[in-house]
Amino acid sequence: MLHIAVIGATGAVGRECLGLLDGGIVPVARVTAAASPRSAGHDLGAELGLKLPMAPVTALDDLDPEGLDVAVLSAGADISRARARRLASAGALVVDNSSAFRMDPAVPLVVPQVNPHELAVRPASGIVANPNCSTIQLVRALHPLHTLAGLESVVVCTYQAASGGGLRGLDELAGDSAALLASAGAGPTRPGGRFGQPLAFNLVPEIGLPDGTGFTHEERKLAREPRKILGLPRLRLTATAVRVPVFHCHSEAVYVRLREPVTAGAVQEALAAAPGLRVHRDGYPMPRTVFDGPESRAAVHVGRIRVEPDDPRGVWLWVVADNLWVGAALNALQIVQTAVRRGWLR
Ligand SMILES: NC(=O)c1ccc[n+]([C@@H]2O[C@H](COP(=O)([O-])OP(=O)(O)OC[C@H]3O[C@@H](n4cnc5c(N)ncnc54)[C@H](OP(=O)(O)O)[C@@H]3O)[C@@H](O)[C@H]2O)c1
Repeated sequence: MLHIAVIGATGAVGRECLGLLDGGIVPVARVTAAASPRSAGHDLGAELGLKLPMAPVTALDDLDPEGLDVAVLSAGADISRARARRLASAGALVVDNSSAFRMDPAVPLVVPQVNPHELAVRPASGIVANPNCSTIQLVRALHPLHTLAGLESVVVCTYQAASGGGLRGLDELAGDSAALLASAGAGPTRPGGRFGQPLAFNLVPEIGLPDGTGFTHEERKLAREPRKILGLPRLRLTATAVRVPVFHCHSEAVYVRLREPVTAGAVQEALAAAPGLRVHRDGYPMPRTVFDGPESRAAVHVGRIRVEPDDPRGVWLWVVADNLWVGAALNALQIVQTAVRRGWLR
């Protein structure tokens, strides 16, 4: 039975972690919820109706790392950079949801359905990184195709939900949408807010800041992280990331060029055989339907599978998943589950 600290417990990802722990995803003796001093003393268990053995929220500065088996960090990259190594040297396995350590060669970047071999032994750093939310659903769909016919190159366009911007992103989309509806569409068009631009009834084709090449931080992550996870350092992969006025679940239009020709039937079979991946043969997945219930939220959904008629190495997919579960909390706790199964978590 584990003592787990959820750091950033009051946020969008942290709350989902607590819900999944409450559902018994791993055996817990005790959960410590930590957040900023603003939330100290808040009875999150009562607010969320949880039965977990958990005291009210602790300010992170007051968290005692002694005796912690696991710390799941979901409080942003700055907090992770400041705290992760200290928690790991006190003996906790740190599973980090931020971007702080993802490309660190000493830190495995893990999607348990894709590269569980990275968890064969406890990493010497004591830290395991959780990939970017859009990366996770992408590699879950790419991995079976690589096994089937070899990946040559990938082009992905994302349609990312407001929950990717945390609780503030969700609140802003709800408030601005209500205001625009009340004013029949007259509302602010100036830059600002959680997404850099107004999101309600809009599309924002820039997630994170662009670098000198014109690609944004999010697009860079989407190009780099799959190479590390799939063990394909030379895979050609390029992305356009777009924020859309959807509350939950990221969608992706993915064009894959394979090394061998395939049929749509073979692609469907390969994807359907992958754990936790649901192929929609009739109809297609959409954010609203994917968010509708725990079974659906736990899966990666793939539809609109098309092999180009004049190029049997070219495949299009439409991939939808819940960024807060598949893309963050569930993946992080499946990392813990894998470590428990492998027997190296003290
Ligand atoms: N949202 C997603 O889809 C998603 C997916 C993958 C990864 N992630 C990553 O997960 C992390 C959290 O994202 P989120 O969406 O859950 O954000 P969020 O809703 O804004 O929550 C942020 C959390 O961090 C805490 N926090 C802020 N400043 C702190 C401080 N100085 N000390 C301790 N705790 C502090 C907040 O506590 P208070 O409530 O007390 O302010 C809150 O619990 C980020 O690194 C993000 O990149 C998010």
